[in-house]
Amino acid sequence: MSARLPVRLSPSVMCVGAGREKTVAGLEALGMDLVHADVMDGVFVPNFMLGTDDIAMLHDLTPLPLDIHLMIERPEERVRWFGIRPGDTVSVHVESTRHIGRAFDIIRSLGASPCAALNPATPLCALDGIIGEVDMILVMTVNPGFAGQKLIPYTVEKIAELRQKLDDKGYENVRIEADGNVSFGNIPKLSAAGADTLVLGTSSLFSKDAPIEQNAKRVRELAG
Ligand code: DX5
Ligand code: ZN
Repeated sequence: MSARLPVRLSPSVMCVGAGREKTVAGLEALGMDLVHADVMDGVFVPNFMLGTDDIAMLHDLTPLPLDIHLMIERPEERVRWFGIRPGDTVSVHVESTRHIGRAFDIIRSLGASPCAALNPATPLCALDGIIGEVDMILVMTVNPGFAGQKLIPYTVEKIAELRQKLDDKGYENVRIEADGNVSFGNIPKLSAAGADTLVLGTSSLFSKDAPIEQNAKRVRELAG
């Protein structure tokens, strides 16, 4: 396995709850690296989440780059709606489009990092041919659409296989993001498998069992 990429923490805005503006504005001071923004269209996933104005507001609230996760149909036709800025990361699901290359090209032309996202049951061979086009692969570790679900165990092995596949092909710098139930208990195994970008939700940073500062410290200690 290659030298490990530095871990990045990406708190998920849909998990913030009340006081969203203040919390988002405080994420940089908590040592977070990115801000994960889920966009759901009610078709690709059975839920609606974060619209174009919400994404613009997030850019105004924090200097951190956004980690925009598009769970929408035909992303190549809509990706320009979101005010993407240079330095942002934008994930597009391989299951959501017949023209994923077009979406990657638009994202790259905006100065952002294109990423491919996979649902839990989508096999790694879906990435064949496009690995060289992306900066990161997002692996869903729960079925997309909702916070507060349990990790699907086979996705941990899938991350390990993906890390191996990337390294074998010479893509040591392509990152892997784990999204879904990245809990205090699951962080060590997801990191060990090769996830270097962790989406933090209700099961870690935004857990109501402790103050957010304490949760942030605990995540950083576990993630390295
Ligand atoms: C899904 C989201 C969130 C997040 C939830 O794409 O980004 O749902 O993972 O985190 P948990 O599972 O900890 O509530
Ligand atoms: Zn997400």
